[in-house]
Amino acid sequence: MTPKEKVAAIKATKGPGSIAALTCYDYPMARLLDESGTDILLVGDSLGMVVLGFPDTTHVTLAHILHHLEAVARAKPAALIIADLPIHTYDTPEQALATAKVLVAAGADAVKLEGGIHQAEKVRAITQAGIPVCGHLGMLPQQVLEEGGYHKKGKTPEQTQAILDGAIALIDAGVFAIVLESVTPAASRIITESISIPTIGIGCGESTCDGEIAVVTDLLGSFPWFVPPFAKPEVNLSNSILEAAAKYIARVRSRS
Ligand code: KIV
Repeated sequence: MTPKEKVAAIKATKGPGSIAALTCYDYPMARLLDESGTDILLVGDSLGMVVLGFPDTTHVTLAHILHHLEAVARAKPAALIIADLPIHTYDTPEQALATAKVLVAAGADAVKLEGGIHQAEKVRAITQAGIPVCGHLGMLPQQVLEEGGYHKKGKTPEQTQAILDGAIALIDAGVFAIVLESVTPAASRIITESISIPTIGIGCGESTCDGEIAVVTDLLGSFPWFVPPFAKPEVNLSNSILEAAAKYIARVRSRS
């Protein structure tokens, strides 16, 4: 499928369980996740925390994302590659479009940016240039410093309505899907049922959105220093790495 066909297929998908997305930051993981049948590989700015060792995503630059995006793109996955616009690379519609073009030139099929009504003009500038955009609403990690931490969203009818208003503004600006992050299950269901494009949830509860996205290190248990409460690791790679390294060290030292 061409990138445009992949985007169209995802946009047309509704119903719980219809999209399985994962973050991805390098070439071997892109090949493996693609072979597994993952629908979307997101080169997300969570990269900053789970790969680069920063405390949050506000330290991630365009150069960081490009370095990892190029590696993922070299795998030529069948999955849709979405790349995050890092903080302060989309402060104006012109800057947003320029950044999106750089990401597409580096191998992204689509881009993602955080925020609702206030970002609609930026989203429009990108989609009108023919570049597909995925929205991101609810808890916005790039706002962590302003908000003084990570707070669940959609706890009141007013908050739920604000997220829904953001979703409607983004749809009007042309997004093909919306990531909902840390939104209450009840609010996620309302938003998902109220819009025609798919929602892709993380930390929103099970079967509340049309799809789900997980940070790949949460799935693999390979970043043990911070595991979000909603993470469901399927393996414990950090233990396997420790065990393998210990066996190697013992083997080498046994020769002395
Ligand atoms: O950067 C990222 O990993 C994300 C997910 C949390 C959706 O944006």
